[in-house]
Order: sequence, then structure tokens, then C-alpha cells
Amino acid sequence: TKKITTQKFIELKKQGEKITMLTAYDYTTASIIDQAGIEGILVGDSASNVMAGNSTTLPITVDEMIYHARCVVNGVKRALVVCDMPFGSYQIGKEDALRNAIRIMKETGADALKLEGGEEILPTIKGLIAAGIPVMGHLGLTPQSVHQFGGYGLRAKQEEEANKLLQDAKLLADAGCFAIVLEKIPALLAECVSKSIDCPTIGIGAGNATDGQILVSADMLGLTQGFRPKFLRQYANLSEIMTDAIGSYILDTKEGTFPSAAESY
Ligand code: KIV
Ligand code: NA
Repeated sequence: TKKITTQKFIELKKQGEKITMLTAYDYTTASIIDQAGIEGILVGDSASNVMAGNSTTLPITVDEMIYHARCVVNGVKRALVVCDMPFGSYQIGKEDALRNAIRIMKETGADALKLEGGEEILPTIKGLIAAGIPVMGHLGLTPQSVHQFGGYGLRAKQEEEANKLLQDAKLLADAGCFAIVLEKIPALLAECVSKSIDCPTIGIGAGNATDGQILVSADMLGLTQGFRPKFLRQYANLSEIMTDAIGSYILDTKEGTFPSAAESY
């Protein structure tokens, strides 16, 4: 199996082939997703919600992201592994961001990092790229800024914010980002951005015209309960499958039919 590179992402856009990504936070899930043939796996700071049960992504730490990313890297042979830089690890300054970025790259074996924001963090992104670290951008709904937005609603509905997003996308592309996540923005804006830059766009809640798609694996597999935004297509109902399996185990044990003679030593 040939490893997917950031260059491959750029080639796929050139060839007009859609790029597929999912999140993972652990070895076992990452192994399954990788073997299924995905191009990219994001160790998202959504681990804060999905793995730790926090209501935002803000609390997760660099140490915790390093743990998750190392687990994922251990399970992946082919996919590109991108790790989110968590809130607080790149906002203080260029040098501090580079120190944290180098730590994550060294201690995890991830292939690239993702940071939320545009022009505000451009010098930081350029610093990482200058150090040889591939960077994925993230525009639109950037969950680390939830307290500033006041919620998780659709972004860039108005012309002013839409224009800034397009401008930010061009800046990130010119700075050398190998891809940009576009989260929860109008499909028409995402299409305009995707056509305006050579850099691949990876959409989530951004319509059908982006160069690729990403979903939180636990959401699309139906593991997480109660999160049903309209952009989310649920491909399986793993929570139901797990509940049924656990119910059967409880019943068999209570009835004394588990373990059987064949399952005993
Ligand atoms: O943390 C995450 O899962 C993400 C994706 C939704 C893009 O940033
Ligand atoms: Na994230």
C-alpha cells in the first residue's frame, strides 16, 4: 500500500476526483477506516466532544491530542493523517505555535496539522510551512471560536463575511496550505471558493461542490446520539447495534447460557 501524501490531495483536485476524509481518535477505528480506503484521516479536536464528552472543543490539550494522534498513526498504513492543533496551542504567537506544532509532529508521526482561521493566523501558518510542516486550513464555522460566534449556526450568510472567507481562502492557498476545510457555509460560497483556488477544499455542511468531504466518523456511523444536523448523512446505526449486542450478553449471562462448554477451558 502506497501512502497518501499532501501532494496526492492536490493531484486529486487537478484530476477532478473527490477527496474523502473521516475523523478518528483511536487505533481500532483508524485501522478500519484506513482499510476501507479513505484518503485522509483527521485526528480532530472534536475528540473533546466525542471521546471526552465536553460540550466544546476548547478544553482538549496538546498532550491529549498527541495521545489520540499517536493511537491513530499506529493504526494507519495508507491514509494521510492530519492532526488538529487544539485551542490555545497556536494563538499566543508564531514561536509558541511552532514549538507546539513540532512537538505534535515529533511525538505522533502525523503527516500534517490543521489550524482554524484565516488572515489573523497567516504568519503562524507561514511559520509552520517554512519549517516543513504541511498545513490544512479551516474556515467558516470554526468551533474553537464558538463563544465569539455565540453558537454553531451557519456561517458567512452575509456578503461581508462571505467576502472575507473567500479572501482568507486565497491567502491560505497562497501561503501554501495543501487543503482547506470549509465548515457549515452556503453551498454556493463553497463552490465559488473551490473554483477560485487550486488548493483542494474539504467540505462539511458546505454542499456538493467542494473538492472533498469530511464527516465525524462517530456521527456518520450513528454512534453519537442526538446530533442530527441536516448536513449529516447517517450511514449506519452503530449505537443500536451495540445496544442490542450488550443486551444479548446481559441476557445470556443472567440465564447462565454464556459461557457454554465450548467457550470454557
Ligand atoms: O475536529 C473535527 O472533527 C473537525 C472536522 C469537523 C473538520 O475539525
Ligand atoms: Na476540529
